[in-house]
Amino acid sequence: MIKDIASLIIKHTVSSRHHLTPEIVLRLITSSCPLWTATEDQVPFKDPFWAFYWPGGQAAARYILDNGNIVANRRILDVGCGCGAGAIAAAMMKAERVTANDTDACAVIAAKINADLNNVTIETSINNFIGAKCENFDTILIGDMFYDEEFANTLFEWLISLAADGKTILIGDPGRHGLTKKRRENISLLAKYKLPKETCIENRGFTESTLWILNKW
Ligand SMILES: C[S@@+](CC[C@H](N)C(=O)[O-])C[C@H]1O[C@@H](n2cnc3c(N)ncnc32)[C@H](O)[C@@H]1O
Repeated sequence: MIKDIASLIIKHTVSSRHHLTPEIVLRLITSSCPLWTATEDQVPFKDPFWAFYWPGGQAAARYILDNGNIVANRRILDVGCGCGAGAIAAAMMKAERVTANDTDACAVIAAKINADLNNVTIETSINNFIGAKCENFDTILIGDMFYDEEFANTLFEWLISLAADGKTILIGDPGRHGLTKKRRENISLLAKYKLPKETCIENRGFTESTLWILNKW
Protein backbone atom coordinates (compact mmCIF):
# COMPACT_ATOMS: atom_id res chain seq x y z
CA MET A 1 0.00 0.00 0.00
CA ILE A 2 2.71 2.49 1.02
CA LYS A 3 4.77 1.26 -1.95
CA ASP A 4 1.79 1.83 -4.30
CA ILE A 5 1.28 5.38 -3.05
CA ALA A 6 5.02 6.07 -3.31
CA SER A 7 4.98 4.85 -6.94
CA LEU A 8 1.99 7.08 -7.73
CA ILE A 9 3.75 10.06 -6.16
CA ILE A 10 6.88 9.44 -8.26
CA LYS A 11 4.75 8.95 -11.39
CA HIS A 12 2.82 12.21 -11.05
CA THR A 13 5.53 14.56 -9.78
CA VAL A 14 8.89 15.87 -10.98
CA SER A 15 12.06 16.73 -9.08
CA SER A 16 12.21 20.47 -8.54
CA ARG A 17 14.65 23.01 -7.13
CA HIS A 18 12.72 26.03 -8.43
CA HIS A 19 11.90 27.48 -5.04
CA LEU A 20 13.40 29.40 -2.14
CA THR A 21 15.55 26.46 -0.96
CA PRO A 22 17.26 25.05 -4.10
CA GLU A 23 19.59 23.07 -1.79
CA ILE A 24 16.57 20.80 -1.22
CA VAL A 25 15.28 18.76 -4.16
CA LEU A 26 11.56 17.97 -3.89
CA ARG A 27 9.10 15.84 -5.85
CA LEU A 28 6.36 18.35 -6.74
CA ILE A 29 3.52 18.80 -9.21
CA THR A 30 4.70 21.68 -11.39
CA SER A 31 3.35 23.28 -14.57
CA SER A 32 5.25 20.62 -16.55
CA CYS A 33 3.14 17.82 -15.03
CA PRO A 34 -0.13 16.59 -16.67
CA LEU A 35 -1.85 16.82 -13.25
CA TRP A 36 -1.22 20.59 -13.21
CA THR A 37 -4.15 21.08 -15.59
CA ALA A 38 -6.16 17.96 -14.64
CA THR A 39 -9.71 18.17 -13.36
CA GLU A 40 -10.43 17.04 -9.79
CA ASP A 41 -11.78 13.62 -10.88
CA GLN A 42 -8.56 12.92 -12.84
CA VAL A 43 -6.32 13.43 -9.81
CA PRO A 44 -5.56 10.16 -7.99
CA PHE A 45 -4.95 11.96 -4.67
CA LYS A 46 -7.39 13.79 -2.43
CA ASP A 47 -6.22 17.39 -1.89
CA PRO A 48 -2.51 16.79 -2.64
CA PHE A 49 -1.25 19.76 -0.60
CA TRP A 50 2.02 17.86 -0.23
CA ALA A 51 2.64 18.13 -3.99
CA PHE A 52 3.22 21.88 -3.68
CA TYR A 53 5.80 23.79 -1.70
CA TRP A 54 3.77 26.47 0.00
CA PRO A 55 5.26 29.94 0.53
CA GLY A 56 5.03 29.63 4.34
CA GLY A 57 6.95 26.35 4.27
CA GLN A 58 9.52 27.87 1.92
CA ALA A 59 10.20 30.70 4.40
CA ALA A 60 10.51 28.25 7.31
CA ALA A 61 12.99 26.00 5.48
CA ARG A 62 14.99 28.97 4.13
CA TYR A 63 15.34 30.41 7.63
CA ILE A 64 16.46 27.08 9.09
CA LEU A 65 19.08 26.54 6.35
CA ASP A 66 20.48 30.04 6.99
CA ASN A 67 20.28 29.85 10.80
CA GLY A 68 21.07 26.25 11.64
CA ASN A 69 21.64 27.01 15.32
CA ILE A 70 17.87 27.37 15.79
CA VAL A 71 17.44 23.61 15.22
CA ALA A 72 20.88 22.10 15.93
CA ASN A 73 20.73 19.39 18.63
CA ARG A 74 17.03 20.00 19.14
CA ARG A 75 14.01 17.73 18.68
CA ILE A 76 11.88 19.12 15.88
CA LEU A 77 8.23 18.51 15.00
CA ASP A 78 7.13 19.79 11.57
CA VAL A 79 3.34 19.95 11.92
CA GLY A 80 1.47 19.92 8.58
CA CYS A 81 4.74 19.02 6.88
CA GLY A 82 3.28 18.62 3.36
CA CYS A 83 6.25 17.80 1.11
CA GLY A 84 8.48 17.72 4.21
CA ALA A 85 10.87 20.54 3.30
CA GLY A 86 10.90 22.08 6.81
CA ALA A 87 11.72 18.73 8.38
CA ILE A 88 14.39 18.06 5.74
CA ALA A 89 15.98 21.48 6.34
CA ALA A 90 16.10 20.75 10.09
CA ALA A 91 17.68 17.34 9.50
CA MET A 92 20.26 18.93 7.18
CA MET A 93 21.16 21.43 9.91
CA LYS A 94 21.87 18.72 12.47
CA ALA A 95 18.70 18.62 14.53
CA GLU A 96 18.88 15.83 17.12
CA ARG A 97 15.66 14.22 15.86
CA VAL A 98 13.12 15.33 13.28
CA THR A 99 9.51 14.22 12.91
CA ALA A 100 7.55 15.18 9.80
CA ASN A 101 3.87 15.15 10.75
CA ASP A 102 0.80 15.40 8.57
CA THR A 103 -2.69 13.98 8.97
CA ASP A 104 -2.61 13.14 5.24
CA ALA A 105 -0.84 9.77 4.93
CA CYS A 106 0.26 10.63 1.36
CA ALA A 107 2.08 13.70 2.71
CA VAL A 108 4.27 11.72 5.10
CA ILE A 109 5.06 9.24 2.31
CA ALA A 110 6.03 12.18 0.06
CA ALA A 111 8.10 13.67 2.91
CA LYS A 112 9.95 10.37 3.32
CA ILE A 113 10.61 10.15 -0.45
CA ASN A 114 11.96 13.70 -0.35
CA ALA A 115 14.10 13.03 2.74
CA ASP A 116 15.65 10.04 0.97
CA LEU A 117 16.31 12.16 -2.13
CA ASN A 118 18.19 14.63 0.06
CA ASN A 119 20.06 11.91 2.01
CA VAL A 120 18.66 12.82 5.41
CA THR A 121 16.84 10.75 8.00
CA ILE A 122 13.47 11.82 9.37
CA GLU A 123 10.73 10.12 11.33
CA THR A 124 7.14 10.49 10.21
CA SER A 125 3.79 10.56 11.99
CA ILE A 126 0.15 10.89 10.92
CA ASN A 127 -1.07 11.69 14.47
CA ASN A 128 -3.13 14.79 15.03
CA PHE A 129 -0.87 16.63 17.50
CA ILE A 130 -3.10 19.70 17.80
CA GLY A 131 -3.86 20.03 21.53
CA ALA A 132 -1.10 17.59 22.61
CA LYS A 133 1.67 18.54 25.08
CA CYS A 134 4.48 17.54 22.68
CA GLU A 135 6.75 16.58 25.57
CA ASN A 136 9.22 14.87 23.23
CA PHE A 137 9.86 18.00 21.17
CA ASP A 138 11.71 21.29 21.69
CA THR A 139 10.73 23.13 18.51
CA ILE A 140 7.53 23.12 16.48
CA LEU A 141 7.55 24.21 12.82
CA ILE A 142 4.40 25.52 11.23
CA GLY A 143 4.53 26.14 7.47
CA ASP A 144 1.54 27.86 5.91
CA MET A 145 -1.24 26.61 8.15
CA PHE A 146 -3.17 29.84 8.73
CA TYR A 147 -5.28 29.55 5.57
CA ASP A 148 -8.51 28.64 7.40
CA GLU A 149 -10.01 30.97 10.00
CA GLU A 150 -11.58 28.33 12.25
CA PHE A 151 -8.53 26.08 12.17
CA ALA A 152 -6.30 29.11 12.83
CA ASN A 153 -8.14 29.75 16.13
CA THR A 154 -7.49 26.23 17.43
CA LEU A 155 -3.96 26.14 16.06
CA PHE A 156 -2.88 29.46 17.54
CA GLU A 157 -4.31 28.71 20.99
CA TRP A 158 -2.38 25.42 21.02
CA LEU A 159 0.84 27.10 19.90
CA ILE A 160 0.49 29.71 22.68
CA SER A 161 0.22 26.91 25.26
CA LEU A 162 3.31 25.17 23.84
CA ALA A 163 5.30 28.43 23.93
CA ALA A 164 4.22 28.89 27.58
CA ASP A 165 5.71 25.42 28.21
CA GLY A 166 9.04 26.66 26.85
CA LYS A 167 8.88 25.32 23.28
CA THR A 168 10.21 27.33 20.36
CA ILE A 169 7.50 27.89 17.76
CA LEU A 170 8.51 28.93 14.24
CA ILE A 171 5.78 30.05 11.84
CA GLY A 172 6.28 30.50 8.10
CA ASP A 173 3.49 32.52 6.51
CA PRO A 174 3.04 34.67 3.39
CA GLY A 175 0.27 36.84 4.90
CA ARG A 176 -2.70 34.50 5.21
CA HIS A 177 -5.86 35.95 6.73
CA GLY A 178 -5.71 33.53 9.70
CA LEU A 179 -2.57 35.19 11.01
CA THR A 180 -4.54 38.24 12.08
CA LYS A 181 -3.19 41.60 13.27
CA LYS A 182 -4.06 40.61 16.85
CA ARG A 183 -2.14 37.34 16.52
CA ARG A 184 0.82 39.15 15.01
CA GLU A 185 1.12 41.04 18.34
CA ASN A 186 2.21 37.71 19.88
CA ILE A 187 4.85 36.86 17.29
CA SER A 188 8.13 38.48 16.23
CA LEU A 189 9.35 38.75 12.66
CA LEU A 190 12.67 36.97 12.08
CA ALA A 191 12.94 37.18 8.29
CA LYS A 192 11.18 38.27 5.11
CA TYR A 193 11.89 36.64 1.73
CA LYS A 194 11.09 37.44 -1.89
CA LEU A 195 9.73 34.30 -3.52
CA PRO A 196 11.36 33.24 -6.81
CA LYS A 197 9.28 34.47 -9.77
CA GLU A 198 8.81 31.02 -11.30
CA THR A 199 6.97 29.76 -8.20
CA CYS A 200 4.53 32.67 -8.10
CA ILE A 201 1.70 30.78 -9.84
CA GLU A 202 1.90 28.04 -7.23
CA ASN A 203 2.07 30.75 -4.58
CA ARG A 204 -1.35 32.02 -5.61
CA GLY A 205 -0.18 35.57 -6.07
CA PHE A 206 2.04 35.87 -2.99
CA THR A 207 5.40 37.39 -3.91
CA GLU A 208 6.88 37.42 -0.41
CA SER A 209 6.89 35.14 2.58
CA THR A 210 7.90 35.64 6.21
CA LEU A 211 9.20 33.70 9.17
CA TRP A 212 7.99 34.45 12.70
CA ILE A 213 8.76 33.20 16.19
CA LEU A 214 6.05 33.02 18.84
CA ASN A 215 6.91 35.23 21.81
CA LYS A 216 7.48 33.57 25.19
CA TRP A 217 6.07 34.86 28.42
C1 LIG B 1 -0.92 24.43 3.13
S1 LIG B 1 -0.23 22.87 3.46
C2 LIG B 1 1.41 23.32 3.98
C3 LIG B 1 2.41 22.24 3.77
C4 LIG B 1 3.85 22.57 4.13
N1 LIG B 1 3.99 22.91 5.53
C5 LIG B 1 4.37 23.68 3.26
O1 LIG B 1 4.43 24.83 3.73
O2 LIG B 1 4.72 23.43 2.09
C6 LIG B 1 -0.99 22.43 5.02
C7 LIG B 1 -0.75 20.98 5.43
O3 LIG B 1 -1.28 20.78 6.74
C8 LIG B 1 -1.83 19.49 6.82
N2 LIG B 1 -2.73 19.46 7.97
C9 LIG B 1 -3.97 19.99 8.10
N3 LIG B 1 -4.45 19.77 9.36
C10 LIG B 1 -3.47 19.10 10.04
C11 LIG B 1 -3.34 18.63 11.39
N4 LIG B 1 -4.30 18.79 12.29
N5 LIG B 1 -2.20 18.00 11.74
C12 LIG B 1 -1.19 17.84 10.83
N6 LIG B 1 -1.27 18.26 9.54
C13 LIG B 1 -2.38 18.91 9.16
C14 LIG B 1 -2.46 19.28 5.45
O4 LIG B 1 -2.67 17.91 5.15
C15 LIG B 1 -1.42 19.94 4.55
O5 LIG B 1 -0.46 19.01 4.10
